Amino acid sequence: MNILVTGSKGQLGSELHELSVNCGKRQFFFYDLPELDITSHELVDSLCREHGINVIVNCAAYTAVDKAETDADTAYRVNRDGSAVLAECAKEHNALLIHISTDYVFNGESWTPYREKDPASPRGVYGKSKWEGEKRIHQIAPSYMIIRTSWLYSAYGANFVKTMLRLGAERDTLNVVNDQIGTPTYAGDLAAAVVTILEHVDPDKLYKETYHYSNEGVCSWYDFAVAIMDLAGLSCRVVPVASAHYPQIAPRPGFSVLDKSAIKQDWGVEIPYWRDSLASLLEKIQTRA
Ligand SMILES: NC(=O)c1ccc[n+]([C@@H]2O[C@H](COP(=O)([O-])OP(=O)(O)OC[C@H]3O[C@@H](n4cnc5c(N)ncnc54)[C@H](OP(=O)(O)O)[C@@H]3O)[C@@H](O)[C@H]2O)c1
Repeated sequence: MNILVTGSKGQLGSELHELSVNCGKRQFFFYDLPELDITSHELVDSLCREHGINVIVNCAAYTAVDKAETDADTAYRVNRDGSAVLAECAKEHNALLIHISTDYVFNGESWTPYREKDPASPRGVYGKSKWEGEKRIHQIAPSYMIIRTSWLYSAYGANFVKTMLRLGAERDTLNVVNDQIGTPTYAGDLAAAVVTILEHVDPDKLYKETYHYSNEGVCSWYDFAVAIMDLAGLSCRVVPVASAHYPQIAPRPGFSVLDKSAIKQDWGVEIPYWRDSLASLLEKIQTRA
């Protein structure tokens, strides 16, 4: 099985790269900008041809949620049009497309965990562009799995955990919102779930699936920040504040907990509790420092 991973230098792509070393018979080919722009049909097509690709794992995306509000053209070009290009190339090369999407396709007004079939109703440009990308994949790709995730963090790139570690070392107190509820996801756990799927997938079968994946459990950004300070041994006091006191450019879903029953049932994926994964990541960062 020959697997093309796009966006390989991002959080999820980097974690997949780490795991791929132990993946035996499966051959991974990792690409990111500037060598591979997913909006170029010509480039994606020629790499699929060159490497005899059977599976495309799309980790590439425009992920700057606030910036997307003033740079909508780029967000749609990457998240909608790039997804369409990958779906077209997957079709032309008889490949399975595994595509990563987001909890931001929902409006956040639910009080129970979102299931895959719940109606999407994204509020900001980022969420709308990701939803349009999902729709293109539905329309074009003969075989696909869309995996929606939330609150991704890792040792790579910029994310909430790394920001809290930096600010927690610089400040005595920090205000963090306590009325946005969701679940953090360690990108290494999501990468492991993708590898589990790749180990069991039948290349001759056509898939048309949407799944949800985050770590287990539920928390607010405030709870998440408190856990980061606690586990990292930082004395910074985290103060809970309402979102109204912390205006952000793009709207955020108030509630974005994802129901993960389907991915667990179909693929036997075991999902760690969010605080345990956070502790493992912090240990990994400290060992490397
Ligand atoms: N981060 C989160 O909290 C979060 C939450 C829910 C869902 N997700 C989804 O999870 C997936 C992985 O997220 P992530 O946090 O790993 O993202 P990330 O760290 O921002 O990585 C995305 C990668 O894609 C690259 N990229 C951007 N435009 C591209 C293009 N046109 N062609 C090829 N590569 C391009 C980026 O390069 P540059 O850095 O040079 O732009 C970056 O290396 C994405 O689909 C995202 O929407 C993320």
